[in-house]
This record gives sequence, C-alpha cells and structure tokens, in this order.
Amino acid sequence: MSTPHNSAEPGDFAPAVLMPGDPKRAERMAASLLADARRVTEVRGIPGFTGTVAAGPYAGRDLSIMASGMGMPSITIYATELFRFYGVERIIRVGTAGGISPLVDVGDVVLGFGAHTTSSMNELRIPGTHFAAVADLRMAAAALAAAGERRVQAGTVISSDHFYFSIPGQLDAMIRHGVLAVEMEAAALYGVAAEFGKGALAVLTISDHLTKDTPDMTADERESIFQGALDLAVAAAFA
Ligand code: HPA
Repeated sequence: MSTPHNSAEPGDFAPAVLMPGDPKRAERMAASLLADARRVTEVRGIPGFTGTVAAGPYAGRDLSIMASGMGMPSITIYATELFRFYGVERIIRVGTAGGISPLVDVGDVVLGFGAHTTSSMNELRIPGTHFAAVADLRMAAAALAAAGERRVQAGTVISSDHFYFSIPGQLDAMIRHGVLAVEMEAAALYGVAAEFGKGALAVLTISDHLTKDTPDMTADERESIFQGALDLAVAAAFA
C-alpha cells in the first residue's frame, strides 16, 4: 500500500521520523546519522530513509528521516500520511529559521515550543477557534536536556506562508510579543500531530537574522551548526 506521495510499504518507517525541509539534507542526515540506511520512498524527489542510529546514546534504535519540502501545505501532506498510514508516533522537524528576537543570534538553536502562524490551515481545524499550535512537552524537555551547555532557547516562533512578504508593523509586534524566529512549517506540523494524537517538535537552527545586523552563515557553517542541533532532535525522537 503506497499513498499518492509516499511509495513506502507499511512497516517501512520507524516510530520516529526526523524531518528536514531539504531533500538533499535528508540524504546527508541519513548518511551521517544512520547505519544501514535504506531508501523507502522517493516520490516527487522527496526521499525517506530508515535505519538504525549509528552512534551515541541511542545507537541501534530504529529511526527514519524524510524531507518535508517547503511550507505548511507540503509538510501537512507528508506528516498526515506518516501518522495515518505508517504508524509514525513522532515527527521532529529539523530546519533553519530567521531570528527575530534580540535574544537569539545566528547559530543558536531554537525549540519552537509554540507556533503562531499567518496560515489559515489550523483555523479550519476547530470551528470558531484560534488553534493553539504547540510542541509535545516530553519531546521538548528531552531536547532541552540533551543541549547540555549549548545555547538553546525554547519559546514561540512564527510559521509564515511568505518568505518574501510581511505586513507593515508585523515584525515589530512579533518582537514585542517575544517571538524568537520565523520559519514556514512548525504550526502546521503541530496541527497535524494534534489531529492524530501524536507528538511533534521543531528544532530550528538560526541561519539569518531579520532584526540584527549579523552576517548570515556560510553554507559550511550552516551545515556544521545544523549537525549540532541533530543531537537534540534525536533525543526528542526517543523521549
Ligand atoms: N523566513 C522564513 N523562513 C526562514 C527564514 C526566514 O527569514 N530563514 C530561514 N528560514
């Protein structure tokens, strides 16, 4: 049984799936994190891998990695199918975000504990209600505990439909309300997890900053800092 967007068979995915946006990053993560990784799907160039954790405290445990593509409609399709058809219990989005709050710097890791959104997708879920899109507390606590001495912040992010457009005044209001960073998927992922009674968390690396004049990370820096965030994501996978 495959789905319109996933050619894997039931049982091909582990209970926990790490989900970067970028298909190439999913491949690199599978090569670096997993032993015996096998490709279980690649519909529309979106790869999914399953293997066992190669090293560290969770070595030998089954883990999957699948890309989400960009934006809330895309992650909603893949997350819905993983929860509904493949027995997945936890999805950890691992991605980049633009810093908003003066409290975060480029290179920091942010746990998106709650996600505001400009999208209407969650507004449709509970009629007449502004949906509260939140991460799984146990998973967030495990990620925070795995951070040790590293600089990690947990708080709200904004999941935006737009990368290149924002309403005048919106950014200032976000700063006033303590929003840490902007990305494009977490709120929808949390909505899907709530729908299926499953767990989700966004572990975000700050790759650029919207309100501070700091240089953006180079591709190499981005990749090495991103690797550091993966320890937190793996801890959340097995919380
Ligand atoms: N906006 C939205 N998503 C992002 C950004 C941004 O500035 N940076 C990294 N992901």
